[in-house]
Amino acid sequence: MLFVKELTCEYRKNLLGTDVKIPRFSWKIESEKRGTYQQAYQIQVTGSAGSFQCPIWDTGRVESEQSIQVEYAGTKLQSRTRYHYRIKVWDNFGRESDWSELSWWETALLSTNEWRAQWITPDPDAIDPHSKAVFLLRKSVHLKRGIVSARIYATAAGVYEIYLNSSRVGDDLLAPGWTSYLHRHQYQTYDVTHHLQSGMNGIGIMLGDGWYKGEVSFIPRRNFYGDCRAALLQLHVQYDDGTEELIVSDSTWKSSTGPILLSEFFAGETYDARLEKQGWTEPDYDDADWNQTLALDLPMNQLVAQENWPTRVTETIRPKNIIQTPSGDTLLDMGQNMVGRIRMRLNVPAGTCIRLQHAEVLDKEGNFYTGNLRSAKQIVKYIAKGGGVETYAPHFSFQGFQYVKVEGFPEIENDHNLLLESFIGEVIHSDMEPTGDFECSHPMVNQLQSNIKWGQRGNFLDVPTDCPQRDERLGWTGDAQVFIRTAAFNYHVGPFFTKWVRDLKADQKPDGSVPYVVPDVLVDFVRRSGKKTWGDETYTSSAWGDAATICPWTLYLCYGDTRLLSEQYDSMKAWVEYIRNQGESEYLWNTGFQFGDWLALDAEEDSYYGATPEYLVANAYYALSTRILRDAAAVLGKEEDVHIYSKLLEEIVAQFHENFVTSDGRMTSNTQTAHILPLMFDLVEGEVRKRVACDLDELVVQNGYHLTTGFVGTPYLCLALSSNGYHSTAVKLLLQESYPSWLYSITKGATTIWEHWDGIKQDGSFWSDAMNSFNHYAYGAIGDWMYRYVAGLDMDEKRAAYKRIRIHPHFSSGELTYARASFISLYGKIESNWSVDNNQIIVKVQIPANTTAEIILPGASLSNVMEGNLEWNIVEGIHSANEVEGGARLLAGSGSYYFTYPKHQVFEKGYANMLNSH
Ligand code: BGC
Repeated sequence: MLFVKELTCEYRKNLLGTDVKIPRFSWKIESEKRGTYQQAYQIQVTGSAGSFQCPIWDTGRVESEQSIQVEYAGTKLQSRTRYHYRIKVWDNFGRESDWSELSWWETALLSTNEWRAQWITPDPDAIDPHSKAVFLLRKSVHLKRGIVSARIYATAAGVYEIYLNSSRVGDDLLAPGWTSYLHRHQYQTYDVTHHLQSGMNGIGIMLGDGWYKGEVSFIPRRNFYGDCRAALLQLHVQYDDGTEELIVSDSTWKSSTGPILLSEFFAGETYDARLEKQGWTEPDYDDADWNQTLALDLPMNQLVAQENWPTRVTETIRPKNIIQTPSGDTLLDMGQNMVGRIRMRLNVPAGTCIRLQHAEVLDKEGNFYTGNLRSAKQIVKYIAKGGGVETYAPHFSFQGFQYVKVEGFPEIENDHNLLLESFIGEVIHSDMEPTGDFECSHPMVNQLQSNIKWGQRGNFLDVPTDCPQRDERLGWTGDAQVFIRTAAFNYHVGPFFTKWVRDLKADQKPDGSVPYVVPDVLVDFVRRSGKKTWGDETYTSSAWGDAATICPWTLYLCYGDTRLLSEQYDSMKAWVEYIRNQGESEYLWNTGFQFGDWLALDAEEDSYYGATPEYLVANAYYALSTRILRDAAAVLGKEEDVHIYSKLLEEIVAQFHENFVTSDGRMTSNTQTAHILPLMFDLVEGEVRKRVACDLDELVVQNGYHLTTGFVGTPYLCLALSSNGYHSTAVKLLLQESYPSWLYSITKGATTIWEHWDGIKQDGSFWSDAMNSFNHYAYGAIGDWMYRYVAGLDMDEKRAAYKRIRIHPHFSSGELTYARASFISLYGKIESNWSVDNNQIIVKVQIPANTTAEIILPGASLSNVMEGNLEWNIVEGIHSANEVEGGARLLAGSGSYYFTYPKHQVFEKGYANMLNSH
């Protein structure tokens, strides 16, 4: 049995509306035989007819192991065309699979010349462009009989929803999403074949301010990208007689306002149902008293088809509880700090105003607390029209919350059941495919993993934001880079970060500096207003700007995306060259503003800046970025650059030693982070490395197994310990429950990751209103270590995308009795699953077809490892094995394996802590 499954084009099954001109295909292979790999493949692509009689591309049999990111190389693709494709493979056992099931992708508009529509906005003389009300745009159109297919291509300067004949088109939210609109603006494609009818049809667009024009940061400024909202829509209808009709947005459309009086990310939404324009997207709606629209001259050449996963409701949550607070408020407790909105279902008299206010936590006394939201109000008001059941959820706003204060609900005092039934939470984020799971024997660690995932869901709302609740919600580059590897375990973040790194590149300054946030809505404003925030003239910082190198590199590692790497290469290089121009010497960055180890606990009282010298951090990252650039150059075959950046790296490392390492091989700074970075970025070797690792261990032990690290040190702390022989210290840090620690927040009821270790202090008071998010994913970056070290699911970075897998569980003496991780790579599912019982160790492994694995079994010797009932050397799929210091190392092909060996060897000999991956 050999078959091909789960075909994807540009990471998506059945991708509707892409403008990628040379799409890439990936597929997975299923085989019951161990050690299966692909010998050859054949791809066939056909045009819209779906028949393979005369394919537009037939590779024939191609001798190749490549089964991911295979580029289309057929005839030039046409716009607005659905292509079907199928794949078959041959394997190393001489077997030939059947053709796979058909998959398809569909092109959108491959050239911006194909836009016939005009950007339209309500006549400003009739409707104030700065009104906060959501605008309605409409038109009725006549269509002939025999509609066979219809597509809408649409976007907005603002955020939009489309309705056809009174029903909503698509289920995506907050389209077109947030890009660096000055350079790139996404449009969406909708299949509306079944929304249309012959005869008259009504088309309507709801248009809100969104990121384009609403408040997007703590700087009180609107209209960042432009003064006028606008919509752009093009409807193509195909008939059975082969003809086509085009309907476009233009100044023949009409405009008005409706029930939504306000809809903003931070403020919330106000909806007066009494102002609904009944039937406004019905074909026969009378819009005689509506206003005109105007065509606007907004750019077309920045339009790109949707790149990211769409933003959607991915889960609904019923409130768990009703709480009456000491100060008399009635609250819904969702039982989970979530991001999204509340949908209500009511039957109340006309004019009843239901007011919902959203907050993340209760204060020490158990009262509703909104201090940490700063100027974000998170208030949703619904004014009922009466006369029956009404359902409503906000359109262009989202809130970060666990608690919802309900006011104005008529039955509030006596009917809690009705309250619970009337409201439901809708979780909203980029609808990324889930790919990873981690679980172990410690329930609080499992809660931590859940908090990490919820932190990711809440903050991956089209851009990777720092937090989803206060007046910030920005694409902070530092936060994104520390978390990306963890993120790439939990969910498929290929499309998500592809879009974001392109925005990073678009927003990078001519001098190569990378703004603090992407899309960049801080820098230009700060410059223009003459206001100075952090730093003076530089609006960049190490560890933040390094997102430019780290993110594309991580996408390359996790998904083998060399195309993106090559696209981003200039941006990566510009960042390294920017740094090179900053310091007093080109090998040392010792000037300008730095965030440093942001929020570390070793900061001075009332300071956000950790004690690790800022330029130690800057130079460690300078080395890391240079190393990544060199490695990227090697992958892309840029030999000259490999040479240049190898040399540069050597010099940077030498300068690092000169400035930050003493002559007897110790770090000049005694913070944990100062020790973590050189270990992680390979800035120390040999005896010095051992010394630094030992000092780091001691720093943690002396601090009673507590961390002191901030944004820069925390993500790597456990990795640095485990990979240098101190895994049991790392595990003690993981399992630490007393403050400060990862589990401390869980003892305080956290269901997401906090911004501060002491967001809620031991006495129940808060850190400070000024900056205290309870949903900030950065410290969730420990997830990477949990997958790679605790469960032992990792890759050989020389063979990207998990083509060569590394399974290397790390046991800890007794604290954890099992750990298991799974990850759906582009090749298929990988599993690493270990457990320790009374006298034996069990390691279960799953390796997908067309990959191989290096499996390290700590404490095993070849003489006593069994796989199932067999000794390793007669096991099918195991190519070779040898003993290494502290264990056995097997090289295996694909398949599922079940290894057992005696436990005493591991723990009595202390192997659990001896093995490291160096
Ligand atoms: C954000 C952080 C960010 C930091 C940089 C904060 O306001 O919430 O996560 O990285 O600023 O200073």
